[in-house]
Amino acid sequence: MSDRIHNASLRERLMSADAAAALIRPGDTIAMSGFTGSGYPKAVPRALAARIERAHAAGEAFQVQVLTGASTAPELDGVLARARGMQLRLPYQSDPTVRDCINAGELEYIDLHISQVAQDTWFGFFGDVEIALVEVTAILEDGSLVPASSVGNNKTWLDRASKVILEVNHWQPAALQGMHDIYYGTALPPHRVPIPLLRPDDRIGEPTLRCDPAKVVAVVETHAPDRHTVFNPPDDTSRRIAGHLLEFLAHEVQRGRLTAQLLPLQSGVGNIANAVLAGLADSGYRGLSAFTEVIQDGMLALLKQGVLRSASATSFSLSEAALAEFNANVDFYRERIVLRPQEISNHPELIRRLGCIAMNGMIEADLYGNVNSSHIAGSRIMNGIGGSGDFARNAYLSVFMAPSTAKGGAVSSLVPMASHVDHTEHDVMVLVTEQGLADLRGLSPKQRARQVIAHCAHPDYRPLLQDYFDRACRASYGKHTPHLLTEALSWHERFIQTGSMRGPMGAVGGR
Ligand code: COA
Repeated sequence: MSDRIHNASLRERLMSADAAAALIRPGDTIAMSGFTGSGYPKAVPRALAARIERAHAAGEAFQVQVLTGASTAPELDGVLARARGMQLRLPYQSDPTVRDCINAGELEYIDLHISQVAQDTWFGFFGDVEIALVEVTAILEDGSLVPASSVGNNKTWLDRASKVILEVNHWQPAALQGMHDIYYGTALPPHRVPIPLLRPDDRIGEPTLRCDPAKVVAVVETHAPDRHTVFNPPDDTSRRIAGHLLEFLAHEVQRGRLTAQLLPLQSGVGNIANAVLAGLADSGYRGLSAFTEVIQDGMLALLKQGVLRSASATSFSLSEAALAEFNANVDFYRERIVLRPQEISNHPELIRRLGCIAMNGMIEADLYGNVNSSHIAGSRIMNGIGGSGDFARNAYLSVFMAPSTAKGGAVSSLVPMASHVDHTEHDVMVLVTEQGLADLRGLSPKQRARQVIAHCAHPDYRPLLQDYFDRACRASYGKHTPHLLTEALSWHERFIQTGSMRGPMGAVGGR
């Protein structure tokens, strides 16, 4: 299989996944490739988990710290979490076992902005990085690496780690070579200079990753697919959310606040985001661009149809069918897609310069537009903030979307006070549910609350929010952002106690 390893000295370091995993020591910090189920190592984490399980069975302590780009897959997060092999995990995750371990208090989790992981690693906040474990498509003669289907933090991992383990995955199409753009101009302050990217599809770096061959302690060959994502076809709720947002964008074009090519699109992951992208395809737009974090099915379709001219991201998150379509047409997509390190795909400087339209999902928003993307009832992590904060804070237009209720109507996504805040009222411009859209730009807190109640709340909860707001306007300590502090989180408390914000007898309200 070693026709993908063109460097003779690195070919000599070929070994089995078990032999590579044996080089990892308890307590090591391992920085792994992988972003939304793309380009993660597929063999060594499994071998490491087996080794950890054997150690635990023998009564020995064995845990490691795991840093990645973002979420990975069962072969990485799943196996290590089941083995109780991780002491610390960062940044974004979405694995059910990892989530359970975090929420049980057994696994330390640091949730931080996707764009900041690289600089925080350079600052040394996570200590030394002993091992970089990185999946690649090929190793070139000069020892440089052709990245796989995500770039994530790989540049930083290879630069910072003392030792490197490479997985060369023959499943990754060789034609990926040339799709990546690895920028080597970042620096820590005070040595920073402007990043010379002026258009979403500009190439400002190199097509391959630099890697000091002397650091490479193992090369493992694999032939294993990326995890594929399951997308549901748009349902009535997501179609209605998409419809409100598309109508709003058309209105903005009419008002001259957006051009007919809009502005570079950032789209979060999930079914609602996919429904918005599907809606764009039917809205007559042409020549759009995307400056985003993840490319999912809807974006591939837009590229194919010519609605989207180009897309910049750091990884893919594709269904099985879209993955097959991509792998069969990599040459077409390589002309239109640039994959960058996540510190560049999500860089605040670039998002602000390009004027992105950020469209992300949320768990809940409150009357004043504070948004919670990551926690259920204030304390249980769902996934993490991901790149939503990078984009929302810096975008030209920041939109958050969700169905107006969750859990079959037992939970309102619009609440008096958000139980956790990822995006403050200052970063949130537009809220959308299937009920409608609230444009919060240029409004004071009380004006925002009226918009949220009128346009976003579900009819079952609208009178209850109105009642809370009216009473808060009368009795609040201050009248600028009215709240009844002992009642503000009572909806969440009721959900924890009874499984429903309405309570057992349909009672809502704090009185
Ligand atoms: N209270 C309790 N549970 C809630 C809830 C609420 N207000 N809102 C959603 N949920 C639950 C759903 O019931 C569902 O639970 P289940 O998995 O047990 O069925 C789960 O949260 C996911 O909700 P869903 O409606 O399927 O939404 P989604 O898949 O679109 O995910 C987020 C929504 C917010 C979790 C997701 O967008 C996310 O992780 N965002 C943060 C990161 C991000 O924005 N990344 C993109 C930036 S590039």
